[in-house]
Amino acid sequence: MFPITILHVLLLIEIILHCSYGQRDKKFFRKDYKYLEDTESFYKIHTISKSWQDARKTCKLEGASLFYPVDEAESNSVIKMWTSEQAFEQVFIGISSLLVKGAFITIDGVSISDIYHKWSKGEPNNANGNEDCVVMRRNNGAFNDYNCAAKQRFICKKTLASLEWNSACNMPDTGYTYSETFGRCYKFHLTPKNWTEAYATCNAEQSFLAIIESQAEADYFVKLTQEAPKDLVRGNYLRGAVLLGFHNVDEEGWISIKGTALEDVGYSKWGNQQPDGGDSEKCGSMFYNGKLNDLGCHHKCFFICECDNLIDVTFDERFATL
Ligand SMILES: *[C@@H]1O[C@H](CO)[C@@H](O)[C@H](O)[C@H]1NC(C)=O
Repeated sequence: MFPITILHVLLLIEIILHCSYGQRDKKFFRKDYKYLEDTESFYKIHTISKSWQDARKTCKLEGASLFYPVDEAESNSVIKMWTSEQAFEQVFIGISSLLVKGAFITIDGVSISDIYHKWSKGEPNNANGNEDCVVMRRNNGAFNDYNCAAKQRFICKKTLASLEWNSACNMPDTGYTYSETFGRCYKFHLTPKNWTEAYATCNAEQSFLAIIESQAEADYFVKLTQEAPKDLVRGNYLRGAVLLGFHNVDEEGWISIKGTALEDVGYSKWGNQQPDGGDSEKCGSMFYNGKLNDLGCHHKCFFICECDNLIDVTFDERFATL
């Protein structure tokens, strides 16, 4: 018996190791990111322009960071990819002097004087006293200081070395927990956001603002809420409710974010006297006890994201390449 047991244990360890590191061998991060072998990193070119701060946030929500070239070779590789895919001429990069004017640092706090940088002739010039962010040009890879609020395209980057893999949920975000009962993954977000921002956050994580489809799932959400270390979160936000994926924004009745009438979703138990807000409360939430509640869309609350496309992802991305 004894040797067989050890063998079993070794086999199990082997399976676990394979699952955790397998993704790194396959070099997959997310469907919307492209891997470049030269730089051992994944990139996504964002074609919708944003302010520098919003660009930085967007990359972070996707589990990546706002790109800046670490050396000339990376600059060249990224420009080559960019040129083959897009025609626009410049992008915001992850360098700014927002903290202290004139002191340009990367998003990870490294002074630009200590790393690769390539200013255009006569830059940075702080034109109009209003240029604390940095753009990179496609034609020559040169930098220019720029107005942070003037929306620009941008590129997000994730290094292969920094990639972690949540094998139970088949996604890079290790904040998601697999539920055997529902065959889905969930993440309780402890950074309070308003409904719109919560929706965008789940979307950026390639999931969606959670929808309760049964009493059992409601009970599970109550448990998730109970177990979350909510009391440690300070600041100005609405306590007692968790944002969920339903709304009445169109004032045509409460529907899930997938367009199903709330009565047909599988769970529609409102709290006492709810919904009670009329025009001023068009966004959906649940009280900590699982009963539904209408809420003003501006309120910041905790929220739950849900990911239910595990099987699709599994077939498309993982086993297809085996
Ligand atoms: C939600 O929060 C974002 C970011 O703080 C803000 O820009 C937006 O106006 C807010 N939405 C509502 C409805 O308050």
